[in-house]
Amino acid sequence: MAENTILRVDSLWVDYYTRSGPIRVVQDVSFEIRRGEILGLAGESGSGKSTVAQAVTRLIRPTVGRMGGDVWLQDENIAQLDRKALRHIKWKKVSIVAQSAMNSLNPVLRIRSQFDDILQSHGQRNRQKNFARMRELIEMVSLSAEVLDAFPHQLSGGMKQRVAIAMALLFHPDLVIMDEPTTALDVIVEREIVSEIKRLQREFGFSVLFISHDLDLLLRMADRVAIMYGGYLMEIGSVQEFTHPLHPYSRALLHSFPAIGAVGAERRRGIPGYPPDPANPPGGCRFHPRCPHSSERCGSDLPLWEAVGGKGDQRVRCIRWREIPNESHTGSD
Ligand SMILES: Nc1ncnc2c1ncn2[C@@H]1O[C@H](COP(=O)(O)OP(=O)(O)OP(=O)(O)O)[C@@H](O)[C@H]1O
Ligand SMILES: [Mg+2]
Repeated sequence: MAENTILRVDSLWVDYYTRSGPIRVVQDVSFEIRRGEILGLAGESGSGKSTVAQAVTRLIRPTVGRMGGDVWLQDENIAQLDRKALRHIKWKKVSIVAQSAMNSLNPVLRIRSQFDDILQSHGQRNRQKNFARMRELIEMVSLSAEVLDAFPHQLSGGMKQRVAIAMALLFHPDLVIMDEPTTALDVIVEREIVSEIKRLQREFGFSVLFISHDLDLLLRMADRVAIMYGGYLMEIGSVQEFTHPLHPYSRALLHSFPAIGAVGAERRRGIPGYPPDPANPPGGCRFHPRCPHSSERCGSDLPLWEAVGGKGDQRVRCIRWREIPNESHTGSD
Protein backbone atom coordinates (compact mmCIF):
# COMPACT_ATOMS: atom_id res chain seq x y z
CA MET A 1 0.00 0.00 0.00
CA ALA A 2 1.36 3.43 -0.93
CA GLU A 3 2.77 5.33 2.04
CA ASN A 4 0.23 8.13 1.91
CA THR A 5 -2.75 5.75 1.68
CA ILE A 6 -4.67 5.38 4.93
CA LEU A 7 -7.49 3.12 3.72
CA ARG A 8 -7.67 0.74 0.78
CA VAL A 9 -10.96 -0.97 0.08
CA ASP A 10 -10.64 -3.82 -2.40
CA SER A 11 -13.54 -5.63 -4.14
CA LEU A 12 -15.91 -5.03 -1.23
CA TRP A 13 -19.35 -6.62 -1.39
CA VAL A 14 -22.25 -6.79 1.06
CA ASP A 15 -25.41 -8.93 1.11
CA TYR A 16 -28.41 -8.28 3.33
CA TYR A 17 -30.58 -11.22 4.32
CA THR A 18 -34.19 -10.78 3.35
CA ARG A 19 -37.21 -13.09 3.41
CA SER A 20 -36.57 -13.98 -0.21
CA GLY A 21 -32.87 -14.69 0.40
CA PRO A 22 -29.66 -12.66 0.41
CA ILE A 23 -29.66 -9.51 -1.69
CA ARG A 24 -26.41 -7.94 -2.86
CA VAL A 25 -26.50 -4.20 -2.21
CA VAL A 26 -22.80 -3.37 -2.58
CA GLN A 27 -20.50 -4.97 -5.11
CA ASP A 28 -16.99 -4.68 -6.46
CA VAL A 29 -16.33 -1.49 -4.53
CA SER A 30 -12.65 -0.50 -4.57
CA PHE A 31 -11.20 2.84 -3.55
CA GLU A 32 -8.47 4.46 -1.49
CA ILE A 33 -8.35 7.31 0.97
CA ARG A 34 -5.12 9.21 1.31
CA ARG A 35 -3.64 10.51 4.53
CA GLY A 36 -5.19 13.83 5.53
CA GLU A 37 -7.73 14.02 2.71
CA ILE A 38 -11.49 14.30 2.60
CA LEU A 39 -13.08 11.81 0.24
CA GLY A 40 -16.72 12.61 -0.50
CA LEU A 41 -19.13 9.79 -1.31
CA ALA A 42 -22.32 10.76 -3.11
CA GLY A 43 -25.26 8.94 -4.68
CA GLU A 44 -29.04 8.74 -4.55
CA SER A 45 -30.89 7.22 -1.61
CA GLY A 46 -30.48 3.44 -1.50
CA SER A 47 -27.30 3.37 -3.62
CA GLY A 48 -25.36 1.71 -0.78
CA LYS A 49 -23.40 4.59 0.80
CA SER A 50 -24.24 3.77 4.43
CA THR A 51 -23.70 0.08 3.75
CA VAL A 52 -20.14 0.85 2.59
CA ALA A 53 -19.57 2.95 5.72
CA GLN A 54 -20.86 0.14 7.92
CA ALA A 55 -18.89 -2.57 6.14
CA VAL A 56 -15.67 -0.55 6.41
CA THR A 57 -16.21 -0.28 10.17
CA ARG A 58 -17.50 -3.88 10.43
CA LEU A 59 -20.91 -2.79 11.69
CA ILE A 60 -22.87 -5.22 9.49
CA ARG A 61 -24.17 -7.63 12.13
CA PRO A 62 -23.93 -11.32 11.16
CA THR A 63 -27.69 -11.74 11.63
CA VAL A 64 -28.37 -8.90 9.20
CA GLY A 65 -25.93 -9.59 6.40
CA ARG A 66 -22.52 -10.71 5.24
CA MET A 67 -19.59 -9.03 3.55
CA GLY A 68 -16.47 -9.90 1.59
CA GLY A 69 -13.41 -8.25 0.10
CA ASP A 70 -10.55 -6.47 1.82
CA VAL A 71 -10.55 -3.33 3.93
CA TRP A 72 -6.96 -2.34 4.60
CA LEU A 73 -6.55 0.29 7.27
CA GLN A 74 -2.82 0.92 6.99
CA ASP A 75 -1.37 -2.58 7.46
CA GLU A 76 -4.42 -4.27 9.00
CA ASN A 77 -7.19 -5.93 7.07
CA ILE A 78 -10.32 -4.91 9.01
CA ALA A 79 -12.41 -7.40 7.03
CA GLN A 80 -10.45 -10.28 8.60
CA LEU A 81 -10.03 -9.11 12.20
CA ASP A 82 -11.62 -10.96 15.12
CA ARG A 83 -13.81 -9.07 17.59
CA LYS A 84 -11.03 -8.41 20.07
CA ALA A 85 -8.65 -6.95 17.50
CA LEU A 86 -11.53 -4.97 16.07
CA ARG A 87 -12.34 -3.40 19.43
CA HIS A 88 -8.77 -2.17 19.60
CA ILE A 89 -9.02 -0.41 16.25
CA LYS A 90 -12.48 1.11 16.52
CA TRP A 91 -12.53 4.65 17.85
CA LYS A 92 -8.73 4.61 18.08
CA LYS A 93 -7.85 4.19 14.41
CA VAL A 94 -11.21 4.55 12.69
CA SER A 95 -14.41 6.05 14.04
CA ILE A 96 -17.82 6.69 12.57
CA VAL A 97 -20.43 9.37 12.93
CA ALA A 98 -23.35 7.20 11.84
CA GLN A 99 -26.29 8.47 9.80
CA SER A 100 -28.66 10.24 12.25
CA ALA A 101 -25.96 9.99 14.94
CA MET A 102 -27.50 12.96 16.68
CA ASN A 103 -30.67 10.98 17.26
CA SER A 104 -28.80 8.00 18.60
CA LEU A 105 -27.50 9.85 21.65
CA ASN A 106 -29.03 8.22 24.72
CA PRO A 107 -31.97 10.50 25.74
CA VAL A 108 -31.79 9.67 29.46
CA LEU A 109 -28.06 10.25 29.94
CA ARG A 110 -26.28 13.56 30.26
CA ILE A 111 -23.68 14.16 27.52
CA ARG A 112 -20.85 13.78 30.03
CA SER A 113 -22.00 10.24 30.97
CA GLN A 114 -22.10 9.24 27.31
CA PHE A 115 -18.51 10.39 26.82
CA ASP A 116 -17.54 8.69 30.06
CA ASP A 117 -19.08 5.37 28.93
CA ILE A 118 -16.90 5.31 25.83
CA LEU A 119 -13.76 6.30 27.72
CA GLN A 120 -14.40 3.74 30.49
CA SER A 121 -15.08 0.98 27.99
CA HIS A 122 -11.59 1.64 26.64
CA GLY A 123 -10.06 1.28 30.08
CA GLN A 124 -9.76 4.99 30.82
CA ARG A 125 -11.02 5.15 34.39
CA ASN A 126 -9.36 8.28 35.72
CA ARG A 127 -12.40 10.53 36.20
CA GLN A 128 -10.44 13.74 36.34
CA LYS A 129 -8.49 12.96 33.18
CA ASN A 130 -11.66 11.86 31.42
CA PHE A 131 -13.42 15.08 32.31
CA ALA A 132 -10.48 17.13 31.07
CA ARG A 133 -10.54 15.25 27.75
CA MET A 134 -14.31 15.74 27.35
CA ARG A 135 -13.96 19.46 28.03
CA GLU A 136 -11.17 19.72 25.53
CA LEU A 137 -13.21 17.96 22.87
CA ILE A 138 -16.43 19.82 23.47
CA GLU A 139 -14.58 23.12 23.20
CA MET A 140 -12.81 21.84 20.11
CA VAL A 141 -16.16 21.59 18.30
CA SER A 142 -17.00 25.15 19.46
CA LEU A 143 -19.46 24.23 22.22
CA SER A 144 -19.22 25.44 25.81
CA ALA A 145 -18.39 22.99 28.60
CA GLU A 146 -21.92 23.39 30.02
CA VAL A 147 -23.14 21.18 27.21
CA LEU A 148 -21.58 18.25 29.08
CA ASP A 149 -24.22 18.63 31.81
CA ALA A 150 -27.12 18.75 29.36
CA PHE A 151 -29.44 15.98 28.24
CA PRO A 152 -29.66 15.53 24.44
CA HIS A 153 -33.19 17.04 24.25
CA GLN A 154 -31.85 20.30 25.66
CA LEU A 155 -29.55 20.74 22.66
CA SER A 156 -30.31 21.89 19.11
CA GLY A 157 -29.74 19.55 16.15
CA GLY A 158 -26.51 21.34 15.26
CA MET A 159 -25.23 21.06 18.85
CA LYS A 160 -26.05 17.34 18.98
CA GLN A 161 -24.25 16.78 15.70
CA ARG A 162 -21.19 18.61 17.08
CA VAL A 163 -21.33 16.33 20.13
CA ALA A 164 -21.40 13.26 17.84
CA ILE A 165 -18.39 14.60 15.92
CA ALA A 166 -16.53 15.31 19.18
CA MET A 167 -17.19 11.72 20.30
CA ALA A 168 -15.75 10.38 17.05
CA LEU A 169 -12.55 12.33 17.73
CA LEU A 170 -12.10 11.08 21.33
CA PHE A 171 -9.12 8.85 20.60
CA HIS A 172 -7.43 10.75 17.76
CA PRO A 173 -8.42 8.33 14.97
CA ASP A 174 -6.59 8.36 11.63
CA LEU A 175 -9.85 8.06 9.73
CA VAL A 176 -13.30 9.42 10.57
CA ILE A 177 -16.31 8.27 8.60
CA MET A 178 -19.16 10.75 8.59
CA ASP A 179 -22.45 9.50 7.19
CA GLU A 180 -24.66 12.46 6.24
CA PRO A 181 -23.57 14.47 9.27
CA THR A 182 -25.36 17.61 8.12
CA THR A 183 -28.37 16.37 6.19
CA ALA A 184 -30.90 16.97 8.98
CA LEU A 185 -29.66 20.50 9.60
CA ASP A 186 -30.55 23.79 7.97
CA VAL A 187 -28.18 25.26 5.40
CA ILE A 188 -26.57 27.80 7.72
CA VAL A 189 -25.84 25.25 10.44
CA GLU A 190 -24.64 22.85 7.75
CA ARG A 191 -22.11 25.40 6.52
CA GLU A 192 -20.89 26.05 10.06
CA ILE A 193 -20.42 22.36 10.76
CA VAL A 194 -18.70 21.71 7.45
CA SER A 195 -16.19 24.49 8.08
CA GLU A 196 -15.73 23.13 11.62
CA ILE A 197 -14.94 19.67 10.23
CA LYS A 198 -12.48 21.15 7.74
CA ARG A 199 -10.77 23.17 10.47
CA LEU A 200 -10.43 20.12 12.75
CA GLN A 201 -9.23 17.99 9.89
CA ARG A 202 -6.53 20.53 8.96
CA GLU A 203 -5.49 20.89 12.58
CA PHE A 204 -5.28 17.19 13.42
CA GLY A 205 -4.55 15.72 10.00
CA PHE A 206 -7.06 12.86 10.10
CA SER A 207 -8.70 11.59 6.91
CA VAL A 208 -12.44 11.77 6.33
CA LEU A 209 -14.91 9.71 4.35
CA PHE A 210 -17.78 12.18 4.09
CA ILE A 211 -21.08 10.76 2.83
CA SER A 212 -23.77 13.03 1.42
CA HIS A 213 -26.63 13.18 -1.07
CA ASP A 214 -25.40 16.61 -1.99
CA LEU A 215 -22.70 16.49 -4.63
CA ASP A 216 -22.43 20.28 -4.70
CA LEU A 217 -21.58 20.28 -1.00
CA LEU A 218 -18.94 17.58 -1.52
CA LEU A 219 -17.38 19.46 -4.43
CA ARG A 220 -17.00 22.47 -2.13
CA MET A 221 -15.47 20.63 0.81
CA ALA A 222 -13.73 17.43 -0.37
CA ASP A 223 -10.39 16.74 -2.04
CA ARG A 224 -11.71 13.82 -4.06
CA VAL A 225 -15.20 12.53 -4.74
CA ALA A 226 -16.66 9.06 -5.41
CA ILE A 227 -20.09 8.42 -6.91
CA MET A 228 -22.22 5.39 -6.10
CA TYR A 229 -25.14 3.95 -8.01
CA GLY A 230 -27.02 0.71 -7.49
CA GLY A 231 -24.32 -0.74 -5.21
CA TYR A 232 -21.39 0.06 -7.53
CA LEU A 233 -18.92 2.90 -7.58
CA MET A 234 -19.41 4.66 -10.92
CA GLU A 235 -16.65 7.25 -10.77
CA ILE A 236 -13.92 8.57 -8.50
CA GLY A 237 -11.62 11.50 -9.01
CA SER A 238 -10.38 14.80 -7.70
CA VAL A 239 -12.74 17.73 -7.27
CA GLN A 240 -10.99 19.37 -10.25
CA GLU A 241 -11.60 16.28 -12.38
CA PHE A 242 -15.27 16.44 -11.41
CA THR A 243 -15.67 19.76 -13.21
CA HIS A 244 -15.76 17.43 -16.26
CA PRO A 245 -17.10 14.13 -14.93
CA LEU A 246 -16.82 11.17 -17.27
CA HIS A 247 -19.78 9.04 -16.19
CA PRO A 248 -23.26 9.99 -17.44
CA TYR A 249 -24.60 9.35 -13.93
CA SER A 250 -22.08 11.73 -12.35
CA ARG A 251 -23.18 14.36 -14.86
CA ALA A 252 -26.85 13.74 -14.13
CA LEU A 253 -26.21 13.96 -10.38
CA LEU A 254 -24.30 17.19 -10.83
CA HIS A 255 -27.26 18.70 -12.65
CA SER A 256 -29.85 17.43 -10.20
CA PHE A 257 -28.95 19.59 -7.20
CA PRO A 258 -29.67 23.28 -6.81
CA ALA A 259 -26.74 25.67 -7.13
CA ILE A 260 -25.91 27.57 -3.93
CA GLY A 261 -28.62 30.15 -3.37
CA ALA A 262 -30.70 28.96 -6.34
CA VAL A 263 -34.45 29.37 -6.01
CA GLY A 264 -37.57 28.37 -7.98
CA ALA A 265 -36.90 27.92 -11.67
CA GLU A 266 -33.14 28.02 -11.09
CA ARG A 267 -33.34 24.70 -9.26
CA ARG A 268 -31.82 22.00 -11.39
CA ARG A 269 -33.88 19.07 -12.52
CA GLY A 270 -33.99 15.65 -10.91
CA ILE A 271 -32.83 12.55 -12.77
CA PRO A 272 -35.73 11.00 -14.71
CA GLY A 273 -36.62 7.41 -13.77
CA TYR A 274 -35.92 5.45 -10.61
CA PRO A 275 -32.87 3.84 -9.02
CA PRO A 276 -32.64 0.05 -9.48
CA ASP A 277 -34.31 -2.39 -7.11
CA PRO A 278 -31.41 -4.35 -5.56
CA ALA A 279 -33.61 -7.47 -5.50
CA ASN A 280 -34.08 -7.26 -9.24
CA PRO A 281 -31.37 -5.10 -10.81
CA PRO A 282 -31.09 -4.51 -14.56
CA GLY A 283 -28.36 -6.43 -16.40
CA GLY A 284 -25.21 -4.76 -17.69
CA CYS A 285 -24.61 -1.27 -16.38
CA ARG A 286 -27.00 -0.54 -13.50
CA PHE A 287 -27.60 2.96 -14.86
CA HIS A 288 -28.36 2.02 -18.49
CA PRO A 289 -32.19 2.23 -18.24
CA ARG A 290 -31.90 5.90 -17.19
CA CYS A 291 -28.83 6.82 -19.21
CA PRO A 292 -29.23 9.26 -22.13
CA HIS A 293 -26.12 7.75 -23.77
CA SER A 294 -26.86 4.04 -23.41
CA SER A 295 -26.31 1.63 -26.28
CA GLU A 296 -27.35 -2.00 -26.67
CA ARG A 297 -24.11 -3.26 -25.14
CA CYS A 298 -24.77 -1.22 -21.99
CA GLY A 299 -27.69 -3.54 -21.23
CA SER A 300 -25.58 -6.67 -21.42
CA ASP A 301 -21.94 -5.86 -20.57
CA LEU A 302 -20.98 -5.09 -16.99
CA PRO A 303 -18.54 -2.20 -17.22
CA LEU A 304 -15.19 -2.56 -15.43
CA TRP A 305 -13.78 -0.21 -12.81
CA GLU A 306 -11.43 1.34 -15.30
CA ALA A 307 -8.39 3.44 -14.37
CA VAL A 308 -8.24 6.74 -16.23
CA GLY A 309 -5.21 8.09 -14.34
CA GLY A 310 -4.61 11.70 -13.45
CA LYS A 311 -3.96 13.45 -10.15
CA GLY A 312 -7.04 12.10 -8.44
CA ASP A 313 -6.42 8.52 -9.62
CA GLN A 314 -9.59 8.94 -11.63
CA ARG A 315 -11.59 5.81 -12.36
CA VAL A 316 -14.87 5.28 -14.15
CA ARG A 317 -17.30 2.41 -14.70
CA CYS A 318 -18.77 3.04 -18.16
CA ILE A 319 -18.00 1.31 -21.44
CA ARG A 320 -18.82 4.46 -23.40
CA TRP A 321 -16.96 7.15 -21.45
CA ARG A 322 -14.49 7.76 -24.31
CA GLU A 323 -17.25 8.22 -26.88
CA ILE A 324 -19.63 10.55 -25.11
CA PRO A 325 -18.87 14.24 -25.55
CA ASN A 326 -17.13 15.94 -22.66
CA GLU A 327 -18.68 19.02 -21.17
CA SER A 328 -18.27 21.28 -18.19
CA HIS A 329 -20.74 20.92 -15.34
CA THR A 330 -22.34 24.23 -16.22
CA GLY A 331 -23.36 22.81 -19.60
CA SER A 332 -26.44 20.65 -20.13
CA ASP A 333 -26.81 17.01 -21.06
N1 LIG B 1 -30.87 -4.13 7.17
C1 LIG B 1 -31.19 -4.18 5.88
N2 LIG B 1 -31.85 -5.26 5.35
C2 LIG B 1 -32.16 -5.32 4.05
N3 LIG B 1 -31.88 -4.34 3.16
C3 LIG B 1 -31.26 -3.24 3.62
C4 LIG B 1 -30.88 -3.09 5.00
N4 LIG B 1 -30.27 -1.90 5.13
C5 LIG B 1 -30.26 -1.33 3.91
N5 LIG B 1 -30.85 -2.13 2.99
C6 LIG B 1 -30.99 -1.87 1.54
O1 LIG B 1 -29.68 -1.77 1.02
C7 LIG B 1 -29.62 -0.77 0.00
C8 LIG B 1 -28.55 0.23 0.34
O2 LIG B 1 -28.94 0.93 1.51
P1 LIG B 1 -28.05 2.07 2.17
O3 LIG B 1 -28.69 2.45 3.43
O4 LIG B 1 -26.64 1.61 2.22
O5 LIG B 1 -28.17 3.24 1.09
P2 LIG B 1 -27.75 4.77 1.20
O6 LIG B 1 -27.06 5.10 -0.09
O7 LIG B 1 -27.02 5.03 2.46
O8 LIG B 1 -29.15 5.51 1.22
P3 LIG B 1 -29.59 6.89 1.96
O9 LIG B 1 -29.04 7.98 1.07
O10 LIG B 1 -31.06 6.84 1.95
O11 LIG B 1 -28.99 6.92 3.32
C9 LIG B 1 -31.02 -0.18 -0.09
O12 LIG B 1 -31.70 -0.83 -1.15
C10 LIG B 1 -31.63 -0.54 1.24
O13 LIG B 1 -33.04 -0.67 1.13
MG1 LIG C 1 -27.39 6.20 4.08
